[in-house]
Amino acid sequence: MIEGGGDMKFGVLGTGMVGRAIASKLVSRGHHVMMGARARGNIPATEWAAAAGNNARAGSFSEAASFGDILFNCVHGAHTLEALEAAGHDALRGKILIDIANPMDYSQGDPPLLLYCNDDSLGERIQRAFPEVRVVKTLNTVGFPSMVDGTRIPGEHDMFVCGNDVAAKAEVSLLLREEFRWSNVIDLGNISSARATEMLMPLFLRLWKTLGTFDFNIQVVVKPKA
Ligand SMILES: NC(=O)c1ccc[n+]([C@@H]2O[C@H](COP(=O)([O-])OP(=O)(O)OC[C@H]3O[C@@H](n4cnc5c(N)ncnc54)[C@H](OP(=O)(O)O)[C@@H]3O)[C@@H](O)[C@H]2O)c1
Repeated sequence: MIEGGGDMKFGVLGTGMVGRAIASKLVSRGHHVMMGARARGNIPATEWAAAAGNNARAGSFSEAASFGDILFNCVHGAHTLEALEAAGHDALRGKILIDIANPMDYSQGDPPLLLYCNDDSLGERIQRAFPEVRVVKTLNTVGFPSMVDGTRIPGEHDMFVCGNDVAAKAEVSLLLREEFRWSNVIDLGNISSARATEMLMPLFLRLWKTLGTFDFNIQVVVKPKA
């Protein structure tokens, strides 16, 4: 459990902007983090670990998954299942996996398509392929600087979570609040709601282009009951 921050072990799978932002924030909060990549000695991961201090280390996907009590999937959406296979079922078993990835397909240019949607999602594909993992989908609907600081964008706005494991969602919601300062978290139910949050990406990417910034978020406004 996250209780007041500090001293937990996290595995962050992925070395891109998202993985580095998540890993750096967790280290700054006093946690121990291993960043995982396809290969040991991955340059972005080893450079990140060298710069981030004593609580930071780098390894393979498998090593990072074994290291962390809670894991983050910050891998390219199209390659997430390969990365998790490389991490291995034994290393993942029983752990919370916070899935931030979106299944984007840039093969036909920009803006990208989703590889699949409507009746399936990456979150569900992960949960089906790794039934022993407690998948919680969240943070995939905002730009990476906002993921680790829900107050970066002023005012009231919302973060979504979904997943099949109620206790895992509660633990992740606490982590979002305590570590990443997200105070408005909406639970969308089971992992099939990953379809909905992944389908926000086409809107997100168009808003980014239109507004010229990804420092924005969605606010869900509810009419008070009469
Ligand atoms: N950027 C954002 O603001 C934002 C917002 C919302 C959601 N997301 C999602 O967050 C995830 C991470 O985004 P990102 O921009 O930080 O990084 P990215 O470029 O999408 O992914 C980088 C990671 O993918 C791994 N990877 C690439 N090809 C692979 C393959 N064939 N097999 C296994 N692993 C492979 C890389 O492994 P190596 O380290 O070994 O190279 C690296 O760790 C994505 O799914 C993205 O859709 C991003």
